[in-house]
Parts: sequence; C-alpha cells; structure tokens
Amino acid sequence: MRIILLGAPGTGKGTQGKYIAEKYKIPQISTGDMLRESIDSKNKIGMMIKNIIEEGKLVSDDIVCELIKKRIAKKDCINGFLLDGFPRTVKQACCLSKNKIKIDYVLEFIMPHHSILERISGRRIHVQSGRIYHVKFNPPKNKDKDDITGEPLIQRKDDKLESVKNRLEEYKKTHHLLVEYYTYEKKINNIKYFQINAMNEFLLIKEKIDMILKK
Ligand code: AP5
Repeated sequence: MRIILLGAPGTGKGTQGKYIAEKYKIPQISTGDMLRESIDSKNKIGMMIKNIIEEGKLVSDDIVCELIKKRIAKKDCINGFLLDGFPRTVKQACCLSKNKIKIDYVLEFIMPHHSILERISGRRIHVQSGRIYHVKFNPPKNKDKDDITGEPLIQRKDDKLESVKNRLEEYKKTHHLLVEYYTYEKKINNIKYFQINAMNEFLLIKEKIDMILKK
C-alpha cells in the first residue's frame, strides 16, 4: 500500500497518517519531520533550511526529492509507505514517477483556510514519538504533558502566526497544480485519488479512510 496525503498545513495529515501507518504497518514518512530532524542534528541540510522552515517557505525540490528517494529505498518500505507532506509541487510528484515509485492512493484533506489557524495554534506535539495533541480538540490528560511518557509537549517554531500565513500562501501557489496532476493520473494511470472533508471529527475521518483503503 503506497499512499500520499495531500492537504494544507494543519488539516490533520500527521494525525491520520499516524493511525494509517500503525493500522497498515507501513512507515509514515513525513518530509516535515525529516527536515526538522536535520535542523535539530545541525547537519549540512539542517543549517541550509533552518530559516526557510521557520519562515514557512518551501524547501527546494532537489533537497526533499533526494531525502525521499533515499528513505523509500530502505527495507521497511518494501510493503508500502505513507508520504505525509510530499509531494508539494509537480516537480516533486514527477520525481516519484521518474524513479519508478508507484503510488496506489492519494488522499487529499480539505478544509477552509480560516479554520486552519485554530487547529495550528492549539497544536502541541511530543517530539520523541511524534504524538500530536490539540489543547481543545485532543487535549493531553495532563496539561502540556505527553500521555504515555509524561514528557513535556512543545509548540513547533513554524506554528507562529506569520509562518502559518506564509505556509498557507505557499500552499495556494502550488496546490492546484498538484490537483490537476493527480486528476490526470487518476484517469490515465488508475491512481485512486479521493478528497476527504478534514472538518469532520477524528473518528469519522478514520472511518472514511478505512472505507477508501478497503476499495
Ligand atoms: P510539515 O511538517 O509537512 O507541515 P504542514 O504540511 O504544514 O502540515 P502540518 O504538520 O502543520 O499539519 P498536519 O496536516 O499534519 O496537521 P496535524 O495532524 O498536525 O512541513 C513543515 C515545513 O517543512 C513546510 O512549511 C516546509 O518548509 C517544509 N517542507 C515539508 N515538506 C516539504 C516538501 N515536500 N517540499 C518543500 N518543503 C517541505 O493537525 C493539526 C492540529 O489539528 C493538531 O493539533 C491536531 O490534534 C488537530 N486535529 C487534527 N485532526 C483534527 C480533527 N479532525 N478535528 C479537530 N482537530 C484535529
């Protein structure tokens, strides 16, 4: 099962991606997480992209394509994978096909942009596990503490209002082209492309995804 999750920032890709990856026993590959890890480990890529990410701009296609090619070549992807946040441009989508990386499902999360700010401003994450909380919609049992380990939760540096506005702007610039690309791929190459109402509750979205992935 090779799945792509498309959607604007804060629409729930990471949340549902974790669920899908656990249920179908495939790795969740988030370019955002990989890039943030590079920043934390202060490696060469990390130094180059730190400011770009914090400002909410897109990292170059060449950097992310290289990361993805290497990651998908790993053994744990042999039975499938879930791409969360990749591709974001048509060039990135073409990088998959050029490298003969086949995709079965594209799930696009859709919600009005004015609701996204509430989602992102309330997000809290447990960095070590990738568990995602929300102060209102999915609060931890104890304020700002991870449910399993009790370790502190944090807010992402790029979740500041100015960065979020930039992320949404970047999304608007590239997204419609990706939609055209996968609409075409659906017709020509039989990729299963579905749109999901991301305003629904967690459980409803899970059920919808399960129904789609059974098809
Ligand atoms: P990335 O980490 O991919 O961030 P993003 O796409 O902006 O998406 P988010 O992680 O913000 O949101 P999400 O959709 O996963 O939502 P979540 O599940 O957390 O990218 C970060 C940066 O890296 C980019 O800006 C760019 O600079 C760079 N980058 C990454 N990939 C790149 C690429 N391919 N090319 C170039 N640059 C790249 O949910 C949000 C909140 O809502 C949470 O608090 C959650 O609890 C809550 N929530 C989720 N679902 C629901 C629900 N149904 N009801 C109520 N609340 C909900």
